[in-house]
Amino acid sequence: MENDQVKKSEIFKNYDKYILSTYTRTPAVFVKGKGMVLTDVDGKKYLDFFPGWGVNNVGHCHPKVMAAVRDQIGKLIHIPNNFYHVNQAKLAKEIIRHSFPGRVFFGNSGAEGCEGAIKFSRIYGQGKRYEIITMKRSFHGRTIGAMTATGQPAYQKGFEPLPTGFKYLPFNDIDAVKSAVTDKTVAIMLEPVQGEGGVNVADKEYIKSLRSLCDERDILLIFDEVQTGMGRTGEMFAFKHYGVRPDIMVLAKALGGGLPIGALVVKESIADYFKPGMHASTFGGSPLVTKAALGVFSAIKSDNMLKNTRVMGRYIMDKLQELKKDFAMITDVRGLGLMIGIELDRPGKDIIDYCFEHGVIINCTQGNILRFMPALNVTKKQADKALYTLRRALTEVTE
Ligand SMILES: Cc1ncc(COP(=O)(O)O)c(C=O)c1O
Repeated sequence: MENDQVKKSEIFKNYDKYILSTYTRTPAVFVKGKGMVLTDVDGKKYLDFFPGWGVNNVGHCHPKVMAAVRDQIGKLIHIPNNFYHVNQAKLAKEIIRHSFPGRVFFGNSGAEGCEGAIKFSRIYGQGKRYEIITMKRSFHGRTIGAMTATGQPAYQKGFEPLPTGFKYLPFNDIDAVKSAVTDKTVAIMLEPVQGEGGVNVADKEYIKSLRSLCDERDILLIFDEVQTGMGRTGEMFAFKHYGVRPDIMVLAKALGGGLPIGALVVKESIADYFKPGMHASTFGGSPLVTKAALGVFSAIKSDNMLKNTRVMGRYIMDKLQELKKDFAMITDVRGLGLMIGIELDRPGKDIIDYCFEHGVIINCTQGNILRFMPALNVTKKQADKALYTLRRALTEVTE
């Protein structure tokens, strides 16, 4: 262990010296992940209730993903997008099969997918319409366009001047949207469940009214499903809960099972607005990452993860409602499927730190909203352990 300690301090030193300090890090060095369990360099195991910030929906190193990657890596890793390969075609077909008739552009991240949606909207507006409505407390990524679409000034501060043409409106407020739409509005972009903004679930009526408004005014309805996609809410894509389809959907995070891939999905009737040369991404949709993503679809299906997400989502929500009765500091519990938020009347840092120390990884967003987003095949036993640890943490903090 002494060696590991030396190694650890060296790692921290090298991070400090050689890596730009854009992240606040917890001092843990992980070496292994399997399903819901992460192991650190000291051999300590953690139940991961926030795997990869929404990346590892099928758990760490799912056998189907590993088999897909192992199979592909010895054959062909990268081929540029001016050629064809079988996995990209298969994956696009699989995404469309689970969503709506359309076509897919592959990139590498959520922000890149949102940039693609913004660029597509500008092309669709043909220079006459360019305004995009997004929501307060939204999160769409860190590139200039996606960051500007993000309705949180804290992320934009210092990076001005920002691109023009964005309007930010309160979430779940259809009247605000109706009054903000002008003849320059070309798109409305939102997350069906806001993740980073605090696990805010869109109302059914709100989404239905947005759909009608977009149809009436020929406005693109864009769903950022970077976090809600790939089964997270108990449907393969969250739009399915609402009985309407978006015109454009953005995917990333869990799509690649841990490998970097993002997708921009555009409905068929407008897909031809993007023409050769208008958009590109060197690494987008490589044979390796698309094969991994096919492994993710296969894992979700073979392990019946959508059903488990619905069952376990309800189970955890019920238990959290009980917890809420016992702890006045919990002001709200909300979510959809296994995307769950617990709002506190105080900062959540001490609680997540306690849980981490006791081997359970959860997250806190917006300072006071705890997030549970376990792998979609989480078991009752694992949930009980996390809930027990959270109860102890809340007790310790109140004392
Ligand atoms: C809803 C949503 N959109 C976009 C992004 C940006 O994704 P990435 O970090 O892959 O660029 C995130 C990341 O958290 C997200 O939650």
